[in-house]
Amino acid sequence: MRVVRTIDALQEAKKNLFGSIGFVPTMGALHKGHLSLIQQAKKENKHVIVSVFVNPTQFLEGEDLESYPRKEEADRKICELAGVDILFMPSADQMYEKDELSIGAPAVRGYILEGEKRPGHFDGMLQVVMKLLNLSGAKKAYFGKKDAQQLALIMQMVKNYFMDIQIIPCDIVRDENGLALSSRNIYLSEEEKCRALSLSKSLKRATKCIMSGELDAEIVKSKMLEVLKEADAVEYVAIVDRKFNGLKKIEIGNTIILVAARIGKPRLIDNIWV
Ligand code: PAF
Repeated sequence: MRVVRTIDALQEAKKNLFGSIGFVPTMGALHKGHLSLIQQAKKENKHVIVSVFVNPTQFLEGEDLESYPRKEEADRKICELAGVDILFMPSADQMYEKDELSIGAPAVRGYILEGEKRPGHFDGMLQVVMKLLNLSGAKKAYFGKKDAQQLALIMQMVKNYFMDIQIIPCDIVRDENGLALSSRNIYLSEEEKCRALSLSKSLKRATKCIMSGELDAEIVKSKMLEVLKEADAVEYVAIVDRKFNGLKKIEIGNTIILVAARIGKPRLIDNIWV
């Protein structure tokens, strides 16, 4: 595996790859969720590039940019063992120049739910993802369904900018209790981890409701909120279609049910695709 830190070194290393490239962009502190993206990329491509870059432009003032978990050595080992060809770990100077042009999230779908709670977050996220996708030279890039709104916006960007890359949504990976894996879970105390389980429990309740024939979005949400009382810090429960338009009636095969809550320090998000 080549570990490269500059754009020039990345371009040089790519010259040794012959055949399809799958790309997995990350902010590091890799866990089993990231590993499953890498494994899927390995299955579907001859070569895999992973990037680790804690992107400053997607953090808002007062968020955890400085304290975001950084585990360079462990990430390197995980990538090496997983058979990654190139690990790209750039600095912010490599990725950005002063006074550069930027792309923005769409005015409606980029500013609801996560975009409303973290205004501007998706602008920075799309900006860096555009750069990383272009740099990777990949034909396929792999993103987790846990960040469902991020995923939908990246798909929209690829469509709107006629980018020649396929975005592959990958399933959420959970721990043995059902908690969706996230690099920020390390902030949770044992007590908070228990409370955090109410997110996945509420999604299970929603699934049960829907399987018993209930398709009214408001009724399903109210059942979820009964479970979420345990978390005591719910930010939103939402039922949208795959493009993030609100739904009154659940459409099987085209619905995402989302929940967000602040448990202790971190904001946690989770969802199911119905
Ligand atoms: O999901 C993430 O880890 C980040 O938002 C991403 C896609 C790597 C962009 O910085």
